Amino acid sequence: MAAKPDARVPRHIAIVMDGNGRWAKQRLRPRTFGHHAGQKAVREAVEFCLRRGVASLTLFAFSSENWARPEGEVSALMELFLKAIDREVAELDGNGVRIRFVGDLDAFAPALRQRMLGAMDRTAGNTALNLNVAVNYGGRWDIARAARLAAEAAARGEFPLADLDEQRVQAYTCLADQPPLDLFIRTGGERRVSNFLLWQLAYAELYFTDTLWPDVDQASLDEALEDYARRERRYGRTGEQVATG
Ligand code: IPE
Ligand code: IPE
Ligand code: MG
Repeated sequence: MAAKPDARVPRHIAIVMDGNGRWAKQRLRPRTFGHHAGQKAVREAVEFCLRRGVASLTLFAFSSENWARPEGEVSALMELFLKAIDREVAELDGNGVRIRFVGDLDAFAPALRQRMLGAMDRTAGNTALNLNVAVNYGGRWDIARAARLAAEAAARGEFPLADLDEQRVQAYTCLADQPPLDLFIRTGGERRVSNFLLWQLAYAELYFTDTLWPDVDQASLDEALEDYARRERRYGRTGEQVATG
């Protein structure tokens, strides 16, 4: 008989990887130094999820608002994404990781977009971990896009427009095929969502830590999971109802 999945381990974790700039500033180095250092924490998070049997890890790498940063920082980030894909994809593929870039990819330069599509194609058959990398992603964009796609399906006659409900919209959101979001983590001390997975956050547990992203390691992720394991998820019911199943 297959082992029952442990409900205390989240099936889907999302992380706002924040604090790279401040980490660099503390060391009197340029912000891009922090972005480079943050890549090690990405590897830590992926390893952690593989080891703990987490099904999906969704990382916020670049928001739709991050284009507003100084041009030099934006281009350094684009360069870093490109190199990271070239460097990491073979190993991720070898470890059974399925990579998906979520967000409006049309805004990226053709060379980078090709790398992203190539990484997704190459790893499409993998099942050990879904690694979703949110780039040029915004929660409102995701919801508006899902609503538009659902409306288009209705216009094609797939269902009556009057049946366009939450479930129909949900089906067109970016991560609809993956387990519901269990745990949202934000590093770097800010207590905000910054237009990340707005739809998917409805019943996620929220965890905030002051640790800056480049300092994140297995121990800090263990702490987040220990905290999560102590939560009681009631989904609107009473504690007594939850206790008696
Ligand atoms: C997060 O770190 C990385 C990206 C947004 C790309 P920040 O660059 O926002 O770091 P802080 O918040 O300025 O310290
Ligand atoms: C959110 O962090 C985006 C990413 C981590 C990619 P920001 O640093 O951009 O968020 P704000 O500006 O503090 O809200
Ligand atoms: Mg920040």
